[in-house]
Amino acid sequence: MSKHKSSPPDNSHGFSRRSFLKGAGVAATGTAVLNSGLLGQASETHSNVIGPDATSIALNINGSVKHVPVEPRTTLAEALRHELHLTGTKIVCDRGSCSACTVMLDGMPVNSCTTFALDAVDRKITTIEGLGDPEHLHPLQAAFVEHDGMQCGYCTPGMVMSCAALLERNPNPAAADVQQAISGNICRCGTYPKVVEAVLATARSRKGA
Ligand code: FES
Ligand code: FES
Repeated sequence: MSKHKSSPPDNSHGFSRRSFLKGAGVAATGTAVLNSGLLGQASETHSNVIGPDATSIALNINGSVKHVPVEPRTTLAEALRHELHLTGTKIVCDRGSCSACTVMLDGMPVNSCTTFALDAVDRKITTIEGLGDPEHLHPLQAAFVEHDGMQCGYCTPGMVMSCAALLERNPNPAAADVQQAISGNICRCGTYPKVVEAVLATARSRKGA
């Protein structure tokens, strides 16, 4: 007979086979309750459950209310591009590290690829399309053109939105303020100095200088 089989139970740590089985029974019961959906049914009586299928939500985008079907996992960037065809907002990294997808929520710049569409309900959303269009450029967009603030253009909508948000909260920024505002916007073409020039020129022209 092996030593293993003939040895008495070791309860030196206050943990026996019996207590393990009792604990496992409690855990199994909990899992069964979860699997049966009983907890879900209980919580449904206290909350407004959305999903997992698409549900229509109202988003205030560029001054008008749009009804958009979204799943709980749908990002704001996906809702803008895929459902509303506002393709000015670019998805580049899709993980919050380049800021190409920047839009404004209540005037503050956010990465729309890491913002759930559901979290934008009851907020004022501004996209690059809300700033201006090719016939009526926003002064900042015109300054980007004039000062060569773009090359390939992948980063440009997000860059413009970060700068527009800066000018909304600080109409007279210093170069360091602009650099700080675009510190999360990655430009592979290296247009940063031209972007700073464009923002400072916009601020000067607004002051009438
Ligand atoms: S695409 Fe959103 S941060 Fe890069
Ligand atoms: S202009 Fe090309 S990435 Fe910025």
